[in-house]
Amino acid sequence: MNTNRLSPAIEKALSDQMNKEIHASHTFLSYGIWADDKGYQGIANFLYRHAQEERNHSIKFMEYVLNRGGKPKVAAIPAPPADPKTLTACFDGIFKHEVDNTTAIYKIVDLSLQEKDWATWNFMQWFVQEQIEEETLAQNLIDKLKIAGGDRATDESLFTLDKSLKESPDDAPLAQNATGANP
Ligand code: FEO
Repeated sequence: MNTNRLSPAIEKALSDQMNKEIHASHTFLSYGIWADDKGYQGIANFLYRHAQEERNHSIKFMEYVLNRGGKPKVAAIPAPPADPKTLTACFDGIFKHEVDNTTAIYKIVDLSLQEKDWATWNFMQWFVQEQIEEETLAQNLIDKLKIAGGDRATDESLFTLDKSLKESPDDAPLAQNATGANP
């Protein structure tokens, strides 16, 4: 008996996304190694933690496809992008990567809507929310570096930025949870 409740198109899209999340993990690992090598241990720590989160995302896609009776396929992962030249380029790259990933997530949401695959649509809502957080985190990195002086930041302000990122949480607060007293 065929127990696969995913259409071939949805199964492939979810499997591709499983691999895409591993590519994101490698990208952040690679950026983290670059930052560590430059002496930014706090930024590296932030990126290593983020690399682990991306791997967790990949596992969620893997589990979901298996639970629906499909079989995800591990594919060759493209090499991560080249090392950034500056911290600004590093943070811009992270932001762009997240926005690109959101586009990929929306495509799967759209496909699930077209196919009226409500289980997949429901599963994907977790990722829609997660991408809001991840884009916010990436945007906050750009803002923090800008305040520190961008590529002309002093060693002292970069030291403070690096230290703050080591201690910064993995998730950004969602607008849905904001109140007047705690915006
Ligand atoms: Fe798994 Fe940063 O998206």
